[in-house]
Amino acid sequence: MKKDNFIPLSIPNLCGKEQEYVNQCFEDNFVSSVGPFVDQFEKEFASFLEIENSTAVINGTAALHLSLILSDVKEGDEVLAPNLTFIAPLNVIRYCGATPILLDSEWDTLSLCPEDLENFLRENTEIKNQSCINKKTGKIIKALIVVHVLGNSAKLGPIVNICKKYHLKLIEDASESLGAKYEGKHLGTLGDFGCFSFNGNKIMTTGGGGVLVCKNQNDSTKAKHLSTTAKVNGLEFIHDEVGYNYRMVNILAAIGCGQLENMPQFLKTKRENFKIYEENLKEFNFGQLHSVKDFTQTNFWFYSLVLDSSNEEKRMQLIQYLNDAGIQVRPIWALMEDLPMFKSCQTGNITISREIYNRVINLPCSTSLTSLQVEKVVKVLKNYERLEAN
Ligand SMILES: Cc1ncc(COP(=O)(O)O)c(C=O)c1O
Repeated sequence: MKKDNFIPLSIPNLCGKEQEYVNQCFEDNFVSSVGPFVDQFEKEFASFLEIENSTAVINGTAALHLSLILSDVKEGDEVLAPNLTFIAPLNVIRYCGATPILLDSEWDTLSLCPEDLENFLRENTEIKNQSCINKKTGKIIKALIVVHVLGNSAKLGPIVNICKKYHLKLIEDASESLGAKYEGKHLGTLGDFGCFSFNGNKIMTTGGGGVLVCKNQNDSTKAKHLSTTAKVNGLEFIHDEVGYNYRMVNILAAIGCGQLENMPQFLKTKRENFKIYEENLKEFNFGQLHSVKDFTQTNFWFYSLVLDSSNEEKRMQLIQYLNDAGIQVRPIWALMEDLPMFKSCQTGNITISREIYNRVINLPCSTSLTSLQVEKVVKVLKNYERLEAN
């Protein structure tokens, strides 16, 4: 396959002033963890989200880890999380010595199902001294990590209320959903904490990077402190607790400043390409494009083709067919309950996340994707359908 004809799934699009800002770092010799772009990026990121401040860190996983530490999650505690997610939220629960409890997802949002959350808590927990106790294990459930899957907002209205009722900290993993909103508010700003990733496949990238936002100002101050090795005295290197070297470096923040300027255009392109897919796949009988309900405004990070249940066993064959045609597509992540590290975790009533896993294929969605490329993807999908019909 000639490289020119290859259509990747999701690649970086450094189309603005990123290079100019990085050159500035070289000129100023600010290439490491100190430098003006880090502060500028934090300010501009907060302003994009219409909040007061943000903490730039080395990646989304670090943001999630800090959010759990700030939620006081410690060894022996438990944390609720979705069964269908990228693995990072589950890993960080383990970094803290805590145990995940896995919950189901729903078709509307591909994200955590509020009914399963509420049913699990009602049937399995009791409140003692303002703590949510798991009746089966006797342990405290400290927090919920809700992942806004593929850019789609989970139903935050009910989820926020359930967390309040059960004394749980709410951590939004908004890694995939920068620019998406729930009832007009940016995702990542409705929970106690919001975590973002700028890994290369995200709507905007810094190569590798992340941001943590905190609802509470004290948490925000503490987040910065913990991400910079908890240093209280720069001259004598005095640290007042065990901290982390999680601060984003100036070069990456410079890329971030450039990317943030492109965000309005990226969001527009994502939406426009979604519409082209949608229009062209109307006649496709193998499945439909997943679309979200009115209460959310997705950022259309990943486009999901949902195969009809009668076609789900063809999923891997179709993925292979597209990949052979130079179109990079992939299934959604393996379920957490199927991975050896999380097999023995307590779960809610999991049914839908498995259906989603069996039926979803992610289609090319880069912000540099052209309408001609979208049309090519659709053409190859329809060729496959024709072949199958014969
Ligand atoms: C939902 C989700 N959470 C967390 C992460 C982790 O982010 P990072 O790769 O920046 O550590 C990612 C992506 O990489 C993600 O998609």
